[in-house]
Amino acid sequence: MVIFAQIFFRMREQDFLPKVYANFPEKGKVIWKAPSNIALVKYWGKRAQQIPANPSISFTLDACATTTQLSYEIRGENTSDFSFDLSFDGKSKEDFKPKIRAFLERVEPYLPHLKRYHFQIETSNSFPHSSGIASSASGMAALALCFLSIERKIQEMEDGFFNRKASFLARLGSGSACRSIAGDLVQWGYHQDIEESSDLYGIQYPFKVNQVFKNYHDTILLVHKGKKQVSSTVGHDLMHQHPFASKRFDQAHENLAQLKSVLATGDLERFIQIVESEALTLHAMMMTSMPYYILMLPDTLEILQKIWRFRKETKIPICFTLDAGANVHVLYPESVEEPAMQFIQDELVVHCENGHYICDQIGLGAKQIFE
Ligand code: PMV
Repeated sequence: MVIFAQIFFRMREQDFLPKVYANFPEKGKVIWKAPSNIALVKYWGKRAQQIPANPSISFTLDACATTTQLSYEIRGENTSDFSFDLSFDGKSKEDFKPKIRAFLERVEPYLPHLKRYHFQIETSNSFPHSSGIASSASGMAALALCFLSIERKIQEMEDGFFNRKASFLARLGSGSACRSIAGDLVQWGYHQDIEESSDLYGIQYPFKVNQVFKNYHDTILLVHKGKKQVSSTVGHDLMHQHPFASKRFDQAHENLAQLKSVLATGDLERFIQIVESEALTLHAMMMTSMPYYILMLPDTLEILQKIWRFRKETKIPICFTLDAGANVHVLYPESVEEPAMQFIQDELVVHCENGHYICDQIGLGAKQIFE
């Protein structure tokens, strides 16, 4: 009964602190596959520990995912430091270690006795390594789920609580990772109209969602596969002294409120307006930061123009969104898959680096592959 009550109320940081446990598993392994996600209302600007400056909502992806295997074994002594090895696509990855160590430091208060174990972390992505697609959301989500699964072996956890705690831990690794745990449409960040919403973790969007959004497609056009010039961490930080910050945060609240009826009724015209405006506003924030910068490339703009022209001429409801980079996510409902793909192949692929793109669609969230 107590757990039941917890899931339906906004949880606090202290609700995620572990109990005192006596029996720890000696050794074992868990494997999780966690997807990436693409925001419709963007998270841009944050306080310490990835507390978002505004609420956001995202489609969970399906094909773009990270699979992580975590093997654990109790160490002889209880030492004062973490012990782990890390490999990516089967190769040892020393340069990823500081990021993982920082994650372990942040989550340690919420996961019992991390320092008692030696961990072997083996991770791989379904999407090509340097595709310009950030793997931090899927990567941190998969890692958080693996670590939390060890606690679940000691202490029974109801699914709702498990998902919220996994999302809470993933957020401490990378903000948008908290939207890669469970659900096809995930909302994160306090919003006055969404009773369960929280800055601490993502929740499955709790309102009615029209069938048209159920199999939505996202074809990701890889305009630039290399590393971007300005990281998201720097971009978020620049929102602190940004002249338009508070208006932008208000706008995100407003767009999320408006999406409620749009998502319920399947009003694609208004959906497209909100989503494209959010994408361009994100980039407008970058262009009006100090220092200012531009992550879109000429090919990005060509794609946007062609999408607008095609939509106007054909009335086919295809639109775009952008993350913090030059790549374009082309969004459209399943019912127009054929003409949309034809258009993408005929007119847009020419703007992709080496003609590369990824066909993805809405997914349901992370899956445990091995317990
Ligand atoms: O989670 P971060 O720090 O990589 O930030 C993600 C920011 C955007 O992708 C641009 C927007 C979002 O809400 O995912």
